[in-house]
Amino acid sequence: MFAAAAAACVMVSLPVKAGRAPGDAPARGNDNASPIYVVTVPAGYRQWQLIAPSHEAGNLDELRAMLGNDIAIQAFRDGALPFPDGAMIARLAWKHEPSLVDNKALGHFQAFVPGPATTVQFMVKDSKKYAATGGWGFGNFVDGKPVNREPCYPCHAGNAKEQDFVFTHYAP
Ligand code: HEC
Repeated sequence: MFAAAAAACVMVSLPVKAGRAPGDAPARGNDNASPIYVVTVPAGYRQWQLIAPSHEAGNLDELRAMLGNDIAIQAFRDGALPFPDGAMIARLAWKHEPSLVDNKALGHFQAFVPGPATTVQFMVKDSKKYAATGGWGFGNFVDGKPVNREPCYPCHAGNAKEQDFVFTHYAP
């Protein structure tokens, strides 16, 4: 199941170069945005706390970090489900690159570090506004601009229902 989700995920966010890829649908403005879309980057997200890191191999080959705002972090620590309104989760991603400096110091080809940023994705909990999608609004951003991809909710709904549609588990 995980393999299937990971493989499908590779297809979803394949164009990871900076800027808008040719296949991307135009970003929607606030006026006609689908209610499941978070259309602006939540303020201060880079100061949120770490939930867990991850490594996505395959074509994407990304290092990632999941961050949560205070409400989300508290819910993860308390194991409180569903996540309360106001919880927000960010998924940051970078190309997975070897570190020449680290490898030289260590004497082996073994060190990898974040390269250029690819996409930043958000999930924002508002059980009224996003009632049709499990209470979560979704947003995908490249260079701070919203870029729509295929619908986000079906994959989260189909594979991460046990944790209120959130895949990532808190890394203590
Ligand atoms: C094909 C399945 C799939 C689709 C479609 C998908 N995701 Fe995810 N999403 C995942 C998986 C798997 C993870 C865990 C990723 C990891 O550990 O690196 C994830 C993680 C996330 C996270 C971190 C919280 C969590 O659930 O772990 C956010 C935020 C997120 N996705 C937003 C989005 C957005 C926004 C879209 C639509 C643009 C989207 N996702 C579409 C599979 C999917």
